[in-house]
Amino acid sequence: MDQGSKKRQAARAAIELLEPGIRLGVGTGSTVNLFIEELARVADRVSAVVASSHETERRLKAAGFTVSDLADAGDLDLYVDGADEANKHFHLIKGGGGALTREKVLAAASRRFVCIIDDSKWVATLGKFPLPVEVVPMAQSYVARQMVRARGQPVPRKDFVTDNGNLILDVHNLVITNPPDLETRFNQIAGVVTVGLFANRPADVILMATDSGIKRFDRR
Ligand code: 5RP
Repeated sequence: MDQGSKKRQAARAAIELLEPGIRLGVGTGSTVNLFIEELARVADRVSAVVASSHETERRLKAAGFTVSDLADAGDLDLYVDGADEANKHFHLIKGGGGALTREKVLAAASRRFVCIIDDSKWVATLGKFPLPVEVVPMAQSYVARQMVRARGQPVPRKDFVTDNGNLILDVHNLVITNPPDLETRFNQIAGVVTVGLFANRPADVILMATDSGIKRFDRR
């Protein structure tokens, strides 16, 4: 099965978790775009929907949804999003689409975080995918030096500004043996807005599409 079909399969599996009256957060990326297409078929189950990016908001509106601000929706029942890498501890690397800050806010504000991936995203150790770090523009070179001290190789993302007006450093070749600890340490660097490690608030459920169907993992 090709990767696109697997992403569709994962998106469909997440639809089955939506209870009537749900207040839903929606992530960003190609897997989530398929989820939005599927969501339109069960729009009557959704009582409020909040978007993690301008692009997702645009797609939700095009699918007929009224998109709420988080401030109006309050705490969410469920957050559905993809990932760039996931491991068996439910730790993730996210931010390939640059929406990591708002994604992290929605994950934090949600009772349950369901991550939808195809099996190419499943890894034993996080870090092959360069770690996205959102930084305020004037701090870019300072943060980059701190990344080098942490033995990473930061590469500024070209021609990219986040929805929050910030920049992204993609940090290559990090050895991420303890994701919660690295997330905490990088969060403390002045000028860092968000680290694309989702480990202190990991996923609660991973729905992974494989050639032999969906594998579901539930965090205890
Ligand atoms: C966007 C993200 C995405 O979830 C991640 O990049 C995966 O994207 P895709 O579903 O296109 O593979 O974190 O910021």
